[in-house]
Amino acid sequence: MKKTILTGIKPTGQIHIGNYIGAIKPALELAKNEEYRAAYFIADYHGLTKIHNAEKFRQLSYGIAAAWLAFGLDPSKVIFYRQSDVPEIFELNWILSCFASKGLMNRAHAYKGIVDSNIQLDRDLDYGVNMGIFSYPILMAADILMFKTEIVPVGKDQIQHVEIARDIAENFNKNYGEIFVLPQYEVQEDTAILPGLDGRKMSKSYNNTIPLFEESKKLQKLINKIKTDSLPPETPKNPDSSILFTLYKEFAPPFEVEKMREQYLSGIGWGKAKKELFNVMDKYLEEPRAKYNELMASPKRLDEILLNGAERARAVSAPFLKEIKRKIGFGV
Ligand code: TRP
Repeated sequence: MKKTILTGIKPTGQIHIGNYIGAIKPALELAKNEEYRAAYFIADYHGLTKIHNAEKFRQLSYGIAAAWLAFGLDPSKVIFYRQSDVPEIFELNWILSCFASKGLMNRAHAYKGIVDSNIQLDRDLDYGVNMGIFSYPILMAADILMFKTEIVPVGKDQIQHVEIARDIAENFNKNYGEIFVLPQYEVQEDTAILPGLDGRKMSKSYNNTIPLFEESKKLQKLINKIKTDSLPPETPKNPDSSILFTLYKEFAPPFEVEKMREQYLSGIGWGKAKKELFNVMDKYLEEPRAKYNELMASPKRLDEILLNGAERARAVSAPFLKEIKRKIGFGV
């Protein structure tokens, strides 16, 4: 039996190269492994905890879908769907919430983070917390458990959520037998934490990102903004402490990377280093960008692909939900 590997991306921001290098690229690599059945989805109901503007929400959701496809996700191989198109997940969400202790949710870091900052700012503890944020990990557990997922490739910040899914599954299984598969997280250790324009981790919350599908001119402008020191061109540079080189490594073929390393060590001007980075990135992104733009111009096509995927997902989720409901005592 193939192992199920599942991951989702929530549409809460414009997708940037950190998302690509940290999540999309490794997930697409894993999907090539014949031992896995891969299910990748757009966690739109998770996005709804934050985004409350319909037009923006729609664009962000389609944007994630188009990004996966632009980088080569094959919807005939990967089960590729929108969470909101698979209603069984939401039924399961309620069932699981009856097996998730509130204390466990209190400790979930996203919620706890908001409470902590409310304390610091001397605000009401619950300021800015909707119930979606509070019970976010339960919906994520439903995503994972619905498909008997064995492996969840995630970033470090999501480890706790996978552990919560395990806890909930164990609670349920204790009562009704081995219904749910206990999932494991897999953190892509070798994926670099990509630095953003200012050198901190590239993240929407630091406002230092390079959007993935920026047109060439804007891409160049952004690259020109990347922070460098004031060493003169001929001074040898340490490639491993340079934001420019760290980004370059991700987009250039290995032999070019080695050549560039030499250039840093023997002295390269930052202007030139930026130009070289722009060249490799622009070349790498050219084709996916065209594909992305094409897909974004035809949302009908995206819907078709996603609904097709949802149908395949439901072929798994519908019978499994029935089985779960029988176990808990609904009908015979
Ligand atoms: N919470 C994840 C994130 O913010 C997105 C997500 C939702 C997810 N459901 C999931 C990831 C299930 C893995 C598995 O990145």
